[in-house]
Amino acid sequence: MNSTMAPEQVELVRKSFDAIWSVRRQLANRFYHRFFELAPDALDLFPSDMERQHLKLMDAIAAIVGALDQRELFQSIIVRSGRQHAQFGVKSSHFGAFGDALIWGLEREFGAAFTPELKEAWITLYRAVQSEMMREAGLKSDWRKSN
Ligand code: HEM
Repeated sequence: MNSTMAPEQVELVRKSFDAIWSVRRQLANRFYHRFFELAPDALDLFPSDMERQHLKLMDAIAAIVGALDQRELFQSIIVRSGRQHAQFGVKSSHFGAFGDALIWGLEREFGAAFTPELKEAWITLYRAVQSEMMREAGLKSDWRKSN
């Protein structure tokens, strides 16, 4: 079990991610559009053809969500990803924008079904993932510290 999330939160995140899997391309589109609005300086870090990146991100989230009750696997996915991202030139501020764009995208996708509990569960997950990734990438974390 991922120690930062309550079992009910793991369940909420899983079910909700399964429910939107069929529209993941739309979510990814929305997400990156929003992300580049919030962090225009990140645009240069990405390839011009974003189609594959959209799918890679969704697959990565699926792997993370699938590993929520396998602590070691969860950890190794995040650590590996954090080290990779250190090579990409990612900054602390990008992670904040990334989290905001992700929660915003999920909110748009779910509409009224994005209950406060579901939102909190996703925020808890993103906070855990980003703090590990940033530590591996040698960056300082400050996203939604107070949440
Ligand atoms: C939870 C957070 C994140 C996840 C799960 C994630 C996931 C991924 C994945 C799966 C890849 C593909 C790696 C590969 O090709 O093998 C990737 C690449 C990349 N990510 Fe992230 N990422 C995250 C946060 C960020 C943030 C905050 C930035 C900030 C700019 C970022 C920038 C990039 C860049 C520049 C690439 C390389 C694109 C390329 O040249 O092909 N990522 N990310």
